[in-house]
Amino acid sequence: MSHMRNPNRQAAKRRATQSENSDTILIYNSSNGATEKYAEWIAEALDCDVMKYSRAKLGYASMYKNIIFGSWIRGGEITRFNMLRANLSNFGIDNNNLIVFATGVIEPTDEYRTFVKGLNGCKQLPDDCFYMLPGKYNSKDCKSADKIALKAMGEKIFVPVHDDQVQDAKERFENGYDGIDHEAILPILEKVREFRGA
Ligand SMILES: Cc1cc2nc3c(=O)[nH]c(=O)nc-3n(C[C@H](O)[C@H](O)[C@H](O)COP(=O)(O)O)c2cc1C
Repeated sequence: MSHMRNPNRQAAKRRATQSENSDTILIYNSSNGATEKYAEWIAEALDCDVMKYSRAKLGYASMYKNIIFGSWIRGGEITRFNMLRANLSNFGIDNNNLIVFATGVIEPTDEYRTFVKGLNGCKQLPDDCFYMLPGKYNSKDCKSADKIALKAMGEKIFVPVHDDQVQDAKERFENGYDGIDHEAILPILEKVREFRGA
C-alpha cells in the first residue's frame, strides 16, 4: 500500500503550500537588478507573491501576514522604504511581520549596519528581521542617472564608514563589485518559515 501513501502526502503538501503562499508578499525596489535578483530568489524559494514597489499599490501589503521589503542603499538610505515605514499604521499593518533587506556594496560591518538601521528608522526592527545583503555595482552597466547621483554624493557616502574600511569601499565603486550570493537569502527564508509556523 506504500504507493497510496505517497500521493496523499503529496496532496497534503500541496494543500499546505496553497494556504502558505498567500500569507507572504515581497515588495522590492531595484534600479540596476541586484535587489531584483534577490527578490526573485526569495519569492521562488518561499512561493510567495512578489511585486515591484509602487506607491499606489503599497496598500496591497495589508492583505498579507508577512511582508518582506527589499531595496537598494543610496547614500545610506534604503530607497523607498520611508513610504512604507511612514504608512504602516495607515495601512493597518503595524502588527504584521515585517522583514527588511537592503543591498549595497559597502561592507555591512556592525558599525555600518547600525548606521543604516538608524538612518532608516529601523532601530525597533529585531536583528533577525533586518538584513544587509551584498549587492552589485559596476559603472559600466549602471544607469546613467545613478552614476551621476553617485558622483554628486562624492565622499559623503563614506562618512559613516570606519576609516579602516573606506579604501575598500571606494575600490568597490571604482573597480566594480559583485557580491550577489544565493546563500545570503537563507536566514530570510528561515525567518519567514518561522513566521509561517507560528
Ligand atoms: C547613487 C548611489 C548611491 C549608493 N550608495 C550606497 C551606499 O550608501 N551604501 C552602499 O552600501 N551601497 C551604495 N550604493 C551601491 C548600491 O546600493 C548597490 O549597487 C546595490 O546593490 C544596487 O542595487 P540594484 O541593482 O537593485 O539597484 C550606491 C549606488 C549608487 C548608484
